[in-house]
Amino acid sequence: MDRSLALDLARVSEAAALACGRWVGKGDKISADDAATTAMRQTLGTLDIDGTVVIGEGEMDEAPMLYIGEKVGKPGQRAVDIAVDPLEGTILCSKGGPGAIATIAMAPRGGFLHAPDMYMDKIIVGPAGYGCININDLPSSNLKRIAAAKKCRLEDLTVVLLDRPRHDKAVADIRKCGARIKLISDGDVAPAVATGIIDSGIDMVMGVGGAPEGVLAAAAVKCFGGDMQSRLIFTTDEERERAPKMGITDFDKVYSAEEMASGDVFFAATGVTSGDLLRGVRYFSGGAQTHTIVMRSKSRTIRFLDSMHYFDYKPTY
Ligand code: FBP
Repeated sequence: MDRSLALDLARVSEAAALACGRWVGKGDKISADDAATTAMRQTLGTLDIDGTVVIGEGEMDEAPMLYIGEKVGKPGQRAVDIAVDPLEGTILCSKGGPGAIATIAMAPRGGFLHAPDMYMDKIIVGPAGYGCININDLPSSNLKRIAAAKKCRLEDLTVVLLDRPRHDKAVADIRKCGARIKLISDGDVAPAVATGIIDSGIDMVMGVGGAPEGVLAAAAVKCFGGDMQSRLIFTTDEERERAPKMGITDFDKVYSAEEMASGDVFFAATGVTSGDLLRGVRYFSGGAQTHTIVMRSKSRTIRFLDSMHYFDYKPTY
């Protein structure tokens, strides 16, 4: 695929972040998400791609924009599949908490797992931990292998988990082995991406979060050459009935990053609020500054873009 599409994706995530950046701390996660989705959809419309949304804001009847199956871009151009989360961490944005991002990934048609909107168990490491993880093992067993591969002490490693009661056992096991823990209230895509950045201070992300977020994380993992395993978590009969319609028949399958995101994958994310990975949107008189990560699996180049946007010269948000 044309490598300049990477910069196009950065423009898309920047537009979404600039739009919902106005909603930071306003206590209205719906309006923040709507603003990000509208801006992302408008910008996607300008791209020279023939895209289909496979990870989006929901089904057509529940999401007016960027719904699963929606066509974006221009018919007849390069056929691609698109995974989006225009505002990952809606509550973080509404409260002004750390680590909300606008994110998008792209793969050749058929490149993404069509993950339903349900839970997924995940374990993610950067390139140094490649081959060290097994989702069926205790967190401490995984961490021991990662420490050996990184030639460091267990106490040097930091694991990120969502702060949920369902992770209490894992947290106890990690604490017992001596590794450090960072419990986050929301937003497990940004830390997953951070595992691929050498000086991010995040060595592993694990636990149960959203499956669509899992596919976005897999796209990033594929771009930086990390490792990931996941398994869908079925909690309702409705989910069990719906999954086969989305091509999922083996409910216990452990997916690799490659099985969730394959081919020439592109990934971009822009900070909405500041976190370990990215700085949030900062406004100044007449404009704003954004901070974006953009990556492509074929070249494995990881770029951070610091962009200045002057509202006299582009749509204002
Ligand atoms: P939203 O942006 O849709 O609010 O999702 C935030 C998030 O924290 C994800 O990052 C995470 O994967 C999921 O929700 C966890 O779900 P739950 O809050 O139900 O534990």
